[in-house]
Order: sequence, then C-alpha cells, then structure tokens
Amino acid sequence: MRIDGKVVLITGASEGIGAACAREFAASGAKLSLIARNEEGLRQAGGPDALVTAGDLTSDEARRRAVDRTLERYGRIDILINNAGVGIYQPSWEMPLEEARYLMELNFFAPLAMTQLVAPHMRAQHSGAIVNVGSIGGKVVLPWMTLYSVTKAALNALTEGQRMELMGSGVRTMIVCPGYVQTGFQKNVRAGHTPEQVQKARRWAISPETCAEAIRRGVERDARTVVTPRSGWLLVLAMRLFPSIVEGRMAKINGTA
Ligand SMILES: NC(=O)c1ccc[n+]([C@@H]2O[C@H](COP(=O)([O-])OP(=O)(O)OC[C@H]3O[C@@H](n4cnc5c(N)ncnc54)[C@H](OP(=O)(O)O)[C@@H]3O)[C@@H](O)[C@H]2O)c1
Repeated sequence: MRIDGKVVLITGASEGIGAACAREFAASGAKLSLIARNEEGLRQAGGPDALVTAGDLTSDEARRRAVDRTLERYGRIDILINNAGVGIYQPSWEMPLEEARYLMELNFFAPLAMTQLVAPHMRAQHSGAIVNVGSIGGKVVLPWMTLYSVTKAALNALTEGQRMELMGSGVRTMIVCPGYVQTGFQKNVRAGHTPEQVQKARRWAISPETCAEAIRRGVERDARTVVTPRSGWLLVLAMRLFPSIVEGRMAKINGTA
C-alpha cells in the first residue's frame, strides 16, 4: 500500500515505537490520528497537524472516541497500527490474576476491539491495513515474561485468522515481531525487572526509528509478518529445530536452571 495521503490511526503513540511510527508515517505523507494517555507526548510525536485523542485503551469509551474522531476529521481510516502494549516480569504461576487480565486487556482485547471498530469501514472502502505490534516473544516464549508472551502469541493468532477472514475484502493484516528495541518499555513494565543477561543485550537493541521504518516498509509491500531485527528469525528457527536446547538456555537466562 502507498502511504502518501493515507489516514493512519496509531495506538500508544506518545513514546517509543508508536511515536517513531507517527514520525515515520508522517514523513511519508500520511495523515495522523494518535491515541495514548499522555496528551503532551502525542502532540510532540505528531506535530501540529495530527489529530490527538488522550485516552486509556483499556476503556471501550476511549477506543470508540479515537475511531469516531478520526472518521469525523478525515472521513476514512486506511491503516490501523495497534501498537500500545505493556510488559510484566513476574512468574505466571504467582502473578495476581487481575494483572494477567490487565495485560490481556491492553495487549490483546484493545487491538481486537479497535479492529472491530475499524474493519467495517475498511471493508466498505475495499482497502485497509491492520498492523498489530506483537513481539518475538509471541513466537518464542520468554520465561521471564511468560504472560506477556501469551498475550503476543494470541495477537499473532488473531492477525493470522483475520487475514483469512478478511481475504478478498481488500483489508490486509500484518504482525510485527520486534526483538529488543531501545524504548521506555523496560521502565514502564507493570512489575518486576529484566534478568541481568537480557539487560546486557540492550547494546544489541535496535532503535525505535529502525523498528518504525521496518513497519512502514512492511505496510508498503503488504507483508504478512515483519520480524525486526531480522536476526530474530534465527531464534524462531532454533526453537523449531532444537526446542529442548533453546528452552534450557532460556531457563538459564531466567535464572531458573
Ligand atoms: N521495546 C521493546 O523491546 C519491544 C519489543 C517487542 C515488542 N514491543 C511492543 O511494542 C509496542 C510498543 O512498545 P514500546 O517499546 O514503544 O513501549 P513504550 O515506550 O513503553 O510505549 C508504550 C506506549 O503504549 C502506550 N500505552 C501504555 N498503556 C496504555 C493504555 N492503558 N492506554 C493507552 N496507551 C497506553 C503508552 O502511552 P501512555 O503511557 O501515554 O498511555 C506508550 O505510548 C508494545 O506493544 C510492546 O509490547 C516492544
């Protein structure tokens, strides 16, 4: 899909990957509609022309308001980027269930709800792209954030299923699986800390701009899956071929083996 002149609605655009996507898509000529809780962050990311909606994506009302305002201002939505998300470093066997539910609400139900609000308009206009920002952890479970991986694996399955549900309608879906990206994600987690070995890997992390560029390119070429950096595919392949070795190594990093 060509980006120039398209209306793009981005969730979680007040910082990190979402803010970088706002800048990347605006530079390619897109019209922006942005939602997150921090209004000032949205204004900084989007500049004076962006439509900004301050709201919490765990609320039905805020999700609907973002979509309604976008349609009122621009009359259409061409690209939906479901990017807002949060992590938690806590073993799943002792995590309070309300935390697990919160993670599912923001990382899975919010993208589902946004898609349910936007897809009918995209179907009516016979075109659209739904981009879900998952994680490499949705492809290979990370034991230091099992529940987070669960939410991203669910998002992965949703994206694949919707691709087939919407086939022939002109609406495409794409899953993005970033590895380590240098954002505030680690400090914004709901609880816990990154294992030391994972923290050390931060020097290999890509910038949010690199991630946003990969997303923009993925939309342009109608990709099904974007793994960024591409070396993430090696981990996916290693897990398929040698699961017990990879699981043992992951448990060691987690400090549980
Ligand atoms: N950084 C990584 O290494 C990495 C790796 C793989 C995947 N990802 C995924 O990439 C996406 C973006 O992460 P990031 O690294 O850019 O993290 P980030 O810097 O923490 O940004 C998260 C964004 O989500 C928004 N957000 C969080 N809770 C929200 C809520 N309840 N309602 C509305 N907006 C909310 C935040 O805005 P407000 O606080 O203003 O609401 C912020 O704009 C996430 O889905 C994450 O899981 C990140």
